[in-house]
Amino acid sequence: MQYFVTTNSPAAEKTDCVVIAIFEQGLLSLAATALNDSTNGRIASIVKQGDITGKVGQTLLVHNIDGVKSPRVLLVGCGKKTGIKENDFKTIITAVTKMLDNSAADQASLYLSDLNVSDRPVQWLVTQAIIVAESSLYQYTTTKSNPKTTKNPIKRLSFFTDVHEVEVRQAAANGLAIANGMHLARELGDLPANVCTPSYLAQQAEQIGQQFDNVTTTILDEGEMESLGMGSLLSVSRGSRQPAKLITMNYQGAKDEKPVVLVGKGLTFDSGGISLKPPGGMDEMKYDMCGSASVFGTITAIAELNLPINVIGLVPSSENMPDGDANKPGDIVTSMAGKTIEILNTDAEGRLILCDALTYSERFDPAVVIDIATLTGAIIVALGSKTTGLMANDQKLADDLLQAGLDSDDKAWQLPLWDEYQEQLDSNFADIANIGSKGAGSITAACFLSRFTEKFTWAHLDIAGTAWTSGGKAKGATGRPVPMLVQYLMNRISKS
Ligand code: BES
Ligand code: MN
Ligand code: ZN
Repeated sequence: MQYFVTTNSPAAEKTDCVVIAIFEQGLLSLAATALNDSTNGRIASIVKQGDITGKVGQTLLVHNIDGVKSPRVLLVGCGKKTGIKENDFKTIITAVTKMLDNSAADQASLYLSDLNVSDRPVQWLVTQAIIVAESSLYQYTTTKSNPKTTKNPIKRLSFFTDVHEVEVRQAAANGLAIANGMHLARELGDLPANVCTPSYLAQQAEQIGQQFDNVTTTILDEGEMESLGMGSLLSVSRGSRQPAKLITMNYQGAKDEKPVVLVGKGLTFDSGGISLKPPGGMDEMKYDMCGSASVFGTITAIAELNLPINVIGLVPSSENMPDGDANKPGDIVTSMAGKTIEILNTDAEGRLILCDALTYSERFDPAVVIDIATLTGAIIVALGSKTTGLMANDQKLADDLLQAGLDSDDKAWQLPLWDEYQEQLDSNFADIANIGSKGAGSITAACFLSRFTEKFTWAHLDIAGTAWTSGGKAKGATGRPVPMLVQYLMNRISKS
C-alpha cells in the first residue's frame, strides 16, 4: 500500500472513504464532530441508532452523506475517549484495514489524530498504523496454486494531521520501511525448508546487495570457513547435504564509525540431528532461521531509509540433520576461538553455529554486537509468545534494547546472566559443554555464547517464542524483532 498525509477537513476530503473515530458511549471524536457539524447532525443521528457504541474495533460503513465529499464514511469504535492501550490501537487499525480491503474503496483517509494511545505522539500512531495495516494484509502465497485474492484491495491510505506535517511524513516512511522489512522476514520464515536453504538465503543476500548501493554482500563457503577454523559451525552442517554459508551484508550509511553487528541464527531446518526432535510440530523448525530473517528485514529497512549508521548483518546458515557424518553426543569440536566444545546434545546446535559467527564478528571492530536467535524452547516456558528474551554483558546496551522494544511496541524482557550460572556448562572432557545442567535453559544458552563475546559489548535476543505463531490457522512468521532492531538503530542515531 501507499501512504500519504492529508490536512483537509473530513468533509472536504475527496477520497473513497473517510474514517472517523467514535468513542465509548457514542462520544464523537474531533473529526466526527467536524463532520457532524457540516452534515446537519447526521453523524450523531447515525450513532443514536445504536449500531455502533464506540467499543474498540467496531465498524460501521455508511454511504452518500450530504455535505461529505467522499462517498463513504467509516465509523470506527475507538474505546475510551480518555485513552486506550497499544493493543486496542492494533485492534482498531486491523479492523479498519480489513474493512477497507474488503470494500470497493481503493483509497481512504484516516482521521484518528485525537486518539490517546498511552500518550504516544501522532508520529508514533502513524508509524504503528502502517506496521499494523501492512501486517494485517500479509498473506503467504508463494507455494500456493490458487492464492485467495481480494477483489478490490485498498491501495492508498492517508493520515490526517494538523500539526508536525514533516515529522508525520517521516513517521509514515519509517512505518513503511519497517513493515517492508517485516514482510521480507515473514516471507523468508514461512518458506519451506526445501526452498529456503542456506544457499537460498545467500542468494537473497546477494540480491539485497544488488538492490541497494550502500549494501555489500559477501558469502563464505565451507572451504573458506574451514580455513578460518570454524570447526563448531562446520560440525553442524556436516550432517546435512546442504552446504553451510556465512553471509555478510555490510550496510554503510555513515563514514568513519564503528558498526553495529547483527548476528542472526540461520538454521534453515532443525531436526535436532542425532538428538532427534519428536515429530509433533517438527515442521515448525523451518522457522529456526527467523533470527537471520530479522537481520535481512532490518538491513533492507535501514537501507530503504538511508539511515546514517553502519551496520553489518552476519548470518551463519546451516541445516541440522541426522546423518552418518552428523555430530554425535559426546563429540568434541574446536571452535574458531580455539575453545573445545563437548556436544552433549546435537539439538543445541544454534549456539554451535553462532559461537563461530560471534568470533568472526571481532574483525569488524564492532561498536556493539547483537545476536538474534530462536535459541531455546525454555524461553517460551519463561516468557510465552509475547516477549523476547534479552541477555547481555553490558547493561547500557540491554537498557537501550529494552527501551527500543517499548518505543516500537516489540518488547523484550531481561534475564540475568550472572556468573553463578557459568559452571552449569562445565565439561569433563572439553573446555565447555554445549548444554547446561538442569534448569535455566535460556540463560545457560546465553552463558555459552558469552564465552565467545568477551572482547566486545554484546546482547542476545532469544526469539524462540516471538518469531512465529505456532500451530493451526495462526501458524506463521511474525517479522519480529525487526521493529525493535530498527528502532534501536534509529535511537542510536538520534542520541549521537
Ligand atoms: N531451535 C531450537 C529452539 C526452539 C525450540 C525454538 C522450540 C522454538 C521452539 C534449538 O536449536 C533447540 O533445539 N534448543 C534445545 C536446547 C536443549 C537441547 C538444551 C531446546 O530448547 O530444547
Ligand atoms: Mn535444536
Ligand atoms: Zn535450533
